[in-house]
Amino acid sequence: MKKFTICLFSASLLLLMACHRPASDNKIDLSVPWKFHSGDDPAWIAASFDDSKWELINPTDIWEHQGYKNLDGFAWYRIRVAIPKRLINDAFIKDSLQIRLGRIDDYDQVFLNDELIGENGKTIPQKTEARPDFFKGQSQWDTERRYILAANDPRIHWDQENVIAVRAYDQGGAGGMFSKPFEISMADLPDHIKFDFNQSGFKFDGDTLISKQFAISNISLKEDFRGKLTIKAIRCDNGNQLFREETLLDMAPNISTVFTVNIKKDLSVPAIIYFTFRENASGKEVRESLEMPYILTPKPCKSPRINGAKVFGIRPWSPFLYKVAATGQPPLTYSAESLPEGLHLRAGDGLITGYISKKGEYKVRLKVTNSFGAAERDFTIKCGDLISLTPPMGWNSWNVWGLSVSDKKVRQAGEAFISSGLINHGWTYINIDDGWEDTHDKNGNIIPNSKFPDMKTMCTYIHSLGLKVGIYSSPGPKTCGGYEGSYNFEEKDARNYADWGIDYLKYDWCSYGGIAPNPNENQLKAPYREMRKYIRKVNRDIHFSLCQYGMGDVWTWGNEVDGNSWRTTGDIEDSWESLSGIGFTQSKCSPFSAPGRWNDPDMLVVGWVGWGPKLHYTRLTPNEQYTHVTLWSLLAAPLLIGCDLTQLDAFTLSLLTNDEVLAINQDPLGKQAKKVSKNDEYQIWVRDLEDGSKAVGLFNLTENQLPVNVNLDDLLMKGKWMMRDVWPQTDLGLVQTHFEMSVPPHGTRLLVFRKP
Ligand code: GLA
Repeated sequence: MKKFTICLFSASLLLLMACHRPASDNKIDLSVPWKFHSGDDPAWIAASFDDSKWELINPTDIWEHQGYKNLDGFAWYRIRVAIPKRLINDAFIKDSLQIRLGRIDDYDQVFLNDELIGENGKTIPQKTEARPDFFKGQSQWDTERRYILAANDPRIHWDQENVIAVRAYDQGGAGGMFSKPFEISMADLPDHIKFDFNQSGFKFDGDTLISKQFAISNISLKEDFRGKLTIKAIRCDNGNQLFREETLLDMAPNISTVFTVNIKKDLSVPAIIYFTFRENASGKEVRESLEMPYILTPKPCKSPRINGAKVFGIRPWSPFLYKVAATGQPPLTYSAESLPEGLHLRAGDGLITGYISKKGEYKVRLKVTNSFGAAERDFTIKCGDLISLTPPMGWNSWNVWGLSVSDKKVRQAGEAFISSGLINHGWTYINIDDGWEDTHDKNGNIIPNSKFPDMKTMCTYIHSLGLKVGIYSSPGPKTCGGYEGSYNFEEKDARNYADWGIDYLKYDWCSYGGIAPNPNENQLKAPYREMRKYIRKVNRDIHFSLCQYGMGDVWTWGNEVDGNSWRTTGDIEDSWESLSGIGFTQSKCSPFSAPGRWNDPDMLVVGWVGWGPKLHYTRLTPNEQYTHVTLWSLLAAPLLIGCDLTQLDAFTLSLLTNDEVLAINQDPLGKQAKKVSKNDEYQIWVRDLEDGSKAVGLFNLTENQLPVNVNLDDLLMKGKWMMRDVWPQTDLGLVQTHFEMSVPPHGTRLLVFRKP
C-alpha cells in the first residue's frame, strides 16, 4: 500500500511538473486550469478529496465568462501543485513563501493541505479554525490575494504534492477568481520593501511647489535591509530633471520611515517621481514611480460666467429649488427674465425657489453681473412629469465615510460645497448613503440612529445652503450594511422622507435577495414599482435611484419602473482595474440613456476616499482620474463625488470644476457616448451634443504615452470641424480627414468638434 502511494505520488508529481511551467525565474505558475465546482461543502477542504470529476476553469477570468452565467453564492476551486525546495535554495531572501491568487470576487478562504492559510487577502499566520461568516461586510473583490507563509510553516509540504482549495463566495454580479498573477514564489526584496504613497496627498503652494509625503517600510519580520534610496522627478514633456535626492537607509525589520519631498514645478506640467531602493548586500533594487498631479483646468475669469444645467424638470406644485451656478469675482448679482409665476430669484445668490402650478415649458433668461461685466444664458424649465433632465451632480457619503456617516459629516459636506465653490459649477446634491437608520417605531416611522439626531433640521439646513439632500434605503428588511431597510414600510418611509425634505432616494437591492432569491424580470422590477408608487404620492420631487448592480440588464427597463437613474455595475473602487472594468464596458447601456433616465456606473473615486472611518488618498493616478471624470461626463453619468470635501486639494478641485467638461455631462440632449473604435491599446468614444457638435474621448489603455491616429470617417463625421481641447479649454484649429494626438498612460484627451 505504502509503495503504491509513493508511486502514485511520484507519478502525479511528474505530471504536475509537466503541466506547471517550472518558471526559470523561480515562480510556479498557477494560471493554469484549476478544478471547479459550484456549491459549498466542507469536505472539499480535504487534500484527499477526489476532485477528478470536477470541471476545469481558468482562474484568471470570472466564472460568468466560463459558462456559469447566473452563478452567485459559493463555489470552490482546487489545484494540486508540487512546491520544490529549489525555490528556497535559489532565493536571496529565504524566509517566506508567497501564494498569489489574483483577485477574488467577492470573498474567499484559502486552504493549503487541509489547513486555513488565508481569508479575503489576509494571511492566517497559524493553525486557526475557519470563520463561518468570512463573506460578510464590504466586498473584497478588488483586494489582491497574496498569502505569505514562513518557509518553515508546517502547512507547506516541500518537495511534495500540495493541495490548494479555495472557497469563494460571490454576493452578486461578477464572481470568482480573476486578474493576475497566479503563482507561488519566495517573497523577494520587492515583497519586503514597500512604498506607501496614499497616506498623504500632494500639497500645493501657490502655483508652483508641490510637496508629497510618502513612507518606505521594511515589512519583513526578520531581515534587516541597508541600501540607498534615490528619488528623482522628471518632466514628461521634455525629459528634464526637476529634482534628485539620495539617502542612505538602514531598515530594521518591521520599520517604516516617512519622507517629504518638495518639488518645484509648474502645476500644468505632467511629471513623474521615480523611487529606487538599492539594497547593498544583494545589489537588488525595488522601484516605484508616482505620477505627479498636473492641472489643466484654467482658473475662472473675473467676469461672470453662468454654469450648471440649462434645463430643469419639475412637477406642478413641487417645491422648486435651483441655484444659478456662476463664477466670477464676487459680489455677483443675479436676475432672471420671464420667470414663471410662483418662482422667485434671490438677487444676492441666485437661488430660485417657489412653486409652478401649471404644466408647460418656460423659457427664462438668466443674467449675472459684477464689476467686471455680465453674462446671460437661456434656461428652460419644463414643468411636467419628468425630473432630473440632466444627470444629478452631488456628493455621496459612501466612498468616503462608509457606515461611519453622521449628521456632522453631512453638514460639513454641504458647507464645503459652498466654501470650495463647487456650488458655482452646478454641484447640488448632498446624499447620505447607508448607516443612518435605526429602526421602525411602533407607528411604523423610520427612526434615524444616534448619529442623526434631527433629520428634518439637518435637511432644512442643507436646503438653506441652496443644496438638495439625498437618502438611502433597501427594499429588503436590511440594507447592505445590515441596517434597517424599507421592506413592508415603503409607504411610511416615503412619507417620512418627504416630511424631512428629501430630494433623492438611492434604493439598494441588498437583502431583497432573500425575498426573491432567483428573481425573474418581474421580480426584479417589483420592489422598485412598489416604492415608486409612494414616492410619487408625496408633495415633492424625489430623484429615484435604482441600485441593484445591473441585474437583469436594468438599463433596458429602469425607465418602466420610473427610475431616474440605475446602477449598471457592482461597486467601484479606486483602482484602474475597477475604473476601467466598469467605465469601458458601458457602451451596451448607451441607447437607454435619456433626459430623466440615466445609466449610473457608480460614484467618483477621486480625492480622500476610504469607505470610512479611515481614509486614504485615491490610488488612481492623476491620468486615471482625468479618464474617470472624462468618461463619466461622456457617459452622461450621475456625478457623485465620493471623497472628504473638507480635504479637497487643488488638483481634485480642478478635476471637479472644469465647466466645459461638466457641460458635456450636463448636455440637455441627454445622449450617452458610444464606443466607436477600440483595440487593445486605446478606445474612442463619441457623444452627440444638443447644438450639433460632438464630444470625443480618446482613452489610452496602456502604461505608455500613445500616439492615437483618428480618422473622422471612423467617428462618422464628414467635412471640416473646429477642434477644441476641452480640459485646457483651448482651440486646436480646423480638421478635415484625420488627426493624430498623443494620449498619456491610462489617460485621456477630451475634444469637442464644432462646425465652423
Ligand atoms: C451597496 C451599494 C453601495 C453602497 C453600499 C451601502 O454595496 O452598491 O453603493 O450603497 O451598498 O451598504
